Amino acid sequence: MKLHKTLLVLPVFAFFSAAGATDLEVLMKGCDDCHGKNGVSQWTDVPTIAGIDAFTHADALFMFRDEDLPCSESEYRQGDTSRAATTMCAVAAELSDDDIEALGDAYAELPFVAAVQDFDVALVEAGAAIHDKQCDKCHSDGGSNVEDEASILAGQWIAYMEASFANYLSGDRPQDKKMEEKMSALSESDVKALIHYYASQQ
Ligand code: HEC
Ligand code: HEC
Repeated sequence: MKLHKTLLVLPVFAFFSAAGATDLEVLMKGCDDCHGKNGVSQWTDVPTIAGIDAFTHADALFMFRDEDLPCSESEYRQGDTSRAATTMCAVAAELSDDDIEALGDAYAELPFVAAVQDFDVALVEAGAAIHDKQCDKCHSDGGSNVEDEASILAGQWIAYMEASFANYLSGDRPQDKKMEEKMSALSESDVKALIHYYASQQ
């Protein structure tokens, strides 16, 4: 009798854990249809999300779900591209707390791959100097350290970074108080130099 019970119960557990894994895979496939295979974007307006620290990634998804981050409308880039354009806020609205934690953890395990892109060589030195003085404390190793509880800046796409800076500077995107102090002190040419310095790290 006991043996029968065990036999009955075991496959049920096996089924549930398999379903959990598949759900995460299905979710990630949906993300990758905009963010690129394994979270590495080949589209300049979409950030690479592979390798971002799990906490920072989950925090961004919670904020998109609460519509505390600005969301722009985006087409699906691959997979079924006939799907209607959507926003990160709408995508995050479909996610449970567990989904968000699992996605943050899973993408943190994947390797960040720097974007191969053109940049202005003449701006790199000035950008590096500003970064080292103002930003490296939190975005260490030139903004490339995946262990930092902050997004990865080095090797991110220029167009995405331009949008990101603009959102902070306009106040549309909330930011760490200490970062805000540094950000608000930057001139337009400082911002440009920083972005090209980050893009130079390939
Ligand atoms: C329809 C396209 C699309 C889909 C689907 C999508 N994203 Fe995004 N995602 C974007 C765009 C575009 C941005 C840039 C911000 C913006 O424009 O709203 C972004 C931004 C992000 C950011 C912010 C990165 C940062 O460093 O601040 C994270 C994290 C993110 N997406 C994770 C995900 C995850 C996880 C999924 C799947 C559950 C997903 N995205 C699905 C298009 C998409
Ligand atoms: C006190 C710590 C701190 C300092 C100093 C700081 N940052 Fe940040 N930064 C963060 C954190 C944490 C995040 C994660 C997302 C958020 O909180 O908005 C972030 C995110 C960012 C992003 C968004 C990346 C993305 O994927 O969208 C940019 C761009 C950025 N920082 C640029 C800078 C620059 C440039 C400086 C220096 C002028 C700077 N930060 C200084 C903590 C800091």
